[in-house]
Amino acid sequence: MQVFHTVDGLRAALRTERQAGHRIGFVPTMGNLHDGHLALIAQARQTSDIVVCSIFVNALQFGLNEDWDKYPRTYDSDCEKLRETGCDYLFHPEDGEMYPNGLDTQSRVVCPTMTDVLCGASRPGHFEGVTTVVSKLFNIVQPDEAVFGIKDYQQLAVIRRMAEDLCMPVKILSAPIHREPDGLAMSSRNSYITSQERPKVTVLKDSLEWIRQQIAAGNLDFPELESVAKQRINSAGFRVDYVTISHSKTLEPAANDDRQITVLGAMFTQSARLIDNLSIELK
Ligand code: PAJ
Repeated sequence: MQVFHTVDGLRAALRTERQAGHRIGFVPTMGNLHDGHLALIAQARQTSDIVVCSIFVNALQFGLNEDWDKYPRTYDSDCEKLRETGCDYLFHPEDGEMYPNGLDTQSRVVCPTMTDVLCGASRPGHFEGVTTVVSKLFNIVQPDEAVFGIKDYQQLAVIRRMAEDLCMPVKILSAPIHREPDGLAMSSRNSYITSQERPKVTVLKDSLEWIRQQIAAGNLDFPELESVAKQRINSAGFRVDYVTISHSKTLEPAANDDRQITVLGAMFTQSARLIDNLSIELK
């Protein structure tokens, strides 16, 4: 695996690959890699000739009171995992390389829909930070395809919309949610969960699963289902951010005759904010 810390260095290497006719797959990450991230790399391998991963903890997508400074940075073990998984290129820029003019005056990419609801409601500016950095990374790497996890469902939907709206010549692919044996969705932020909380945090996934079962059984009283799921999470000792039954594409509240539904949830532990989702296709 070749590692680059500068835009110019990576570009020169990828230019050679492109000239050789190689299809470039790209997986952007913030590092602290777990099996969910590595599954994205493995998926990109299947449809691309070479795979590029980026590790960059993007300050622009963190709120002022969020965890940018304590976000786990595990560069050496990340490199080892990427080598074992067969990643070809790693891009690991410093903040100054990505934002040479500073954050405040950085040009932004804004997706005006789907970004102020759900995670966007409790994390103002977050998705603007994501769309801006992903656009920059797409411009640097110029991938043929890029793989994103369904774990961050709203992020995936926003990036798809951005790529469509701005005619970005990249195919956006999705990868299923990778879970711990008990069903907890893998996340770099799971390291913030205390040992007392850990056995109980599966309540988020279980509550979304309960909604799925209710809908499958014909219960379409969505506000009631959301309310019961929230109570269940509260009773396990966690503060609910949201539980929403949404239209899978627009992320607007689902109507009773919608066929493609996604149930999304977010809750707070003492020092983590956990998210999860599942999708339902009704006949
Ligand atoms: P990060 O949280 O590091 O996630 C990188 C990619 O891994 C995202 O596409 C995310 O959806 C995916 N991922 C994380 N956990 C997963 C899991 N359990 N199963 C499947 N995929 C999973 O998402 C970001 O970084 C950033 O916002 C980024 C897109 C890199 C922009 O800064």
